[in-house]
Amino acid sequence: MTAQPRELADLALKVAQEAAALVLDHKARGGGSDWVADTKSSDVDVVTLADRASEDLIRDRLLSARPDDALLGEEGDDVVGTSGVRWIVDPIDGTVNFLYGLPEFSVSIAAEVDGEVVAGVVLDAAKERSYVGFVDAGLPGGGAATRNGVPLAVRGPAPVSQRLLATGFSYSAEKRAVQAAATARMLPLVRDIRRHGSCALELCHVAEGALDGYVEEGVNLWDFAAGGLIARLAGAQLVVLPGAGGTDLVVCGPDHGFEELVALARKSGFTRE
Ligand code: IPD
Ligand code: CA
Ligand code: CA
Repeated sequence: MTAQPRELADLALKVAQEAAALVLDHKARGGGSDWVADTKSSDVDVVTLADRASEDLIRDRLLSARPDDALLGEEGDDVVGTSGVRWIVDPIDGTVNFLYGLPEFSVSIAAEVDGEVVAGVVLDAAKERSYVGFVDAGLPGGGAATRNGVPLAVRGPAPVSQRLLATGFSYSAEKRAVQAAATARMLPLVRDIRRHGSCALELCHVAEGALDGYVEEGVNLWDFAAGGLIARLAGAQLVVLPGAGGTDLVVCGPDHGFEELVALARKSGFTRE
């Protein structure tokens, strides 16, 4: 089955919209501690019934439409395929926000072809914003990145001291101690630091010019595959570096001034030297 990035993005958007509706329906019906189905890497790393239902729906819809594709999902799916396409799914990015009734959570679906991410959708369920990106060599900039159909562009240049950055914290207490120390060193050097609680949305905020950059250690491919593509197509760069806590560090920011952002992350102690 052929795979045009734009078609993969269209399918991902349709499926993400259905998954977001399901997640919002869970939210409307519940809110109690019985939502928590399990814990994962630590006691504060929870999975809700809605995470599982969303991943089930996304897997079923994508693989019914494209049965030969592979799929990797945060909640356990690892389906082998033969088409060269692999879907990468975070059924709710920002589960803790979702659990507490905070609005920053999203459904994130990316598609790789032969190991390269070529399409991505991040659906901001509560705000009904659809971020979509796909590569297309025929388009200026090598592809399109949009929010509700409107093209996105990163923020203009700013000195490091005036940049608004975002970060996030791991579910591991040990790694958090390292992240907290690096964040404390970075804070006096920039305009301010936000922690919204959904990596996929933080990357979309970089894409739409609502942040000057994002730095976080310990995120996984399902957190940043779709949002990272959208940010890059809107004029950002994204690198994965060895993090000070022993796992991958993602740094994303506009092309202009990107080297300064990486240097700031290093100087603050986010990287392992
Ligand atoms: C988490 C969110 C959060 C980030 C964590 C991620 P989850 O994903 O993206 O912003 O700080 O590192 O694990 O668990 O809500 O899917
Ligand atoms: Ca996530
Ligand atoms: Ca998740």
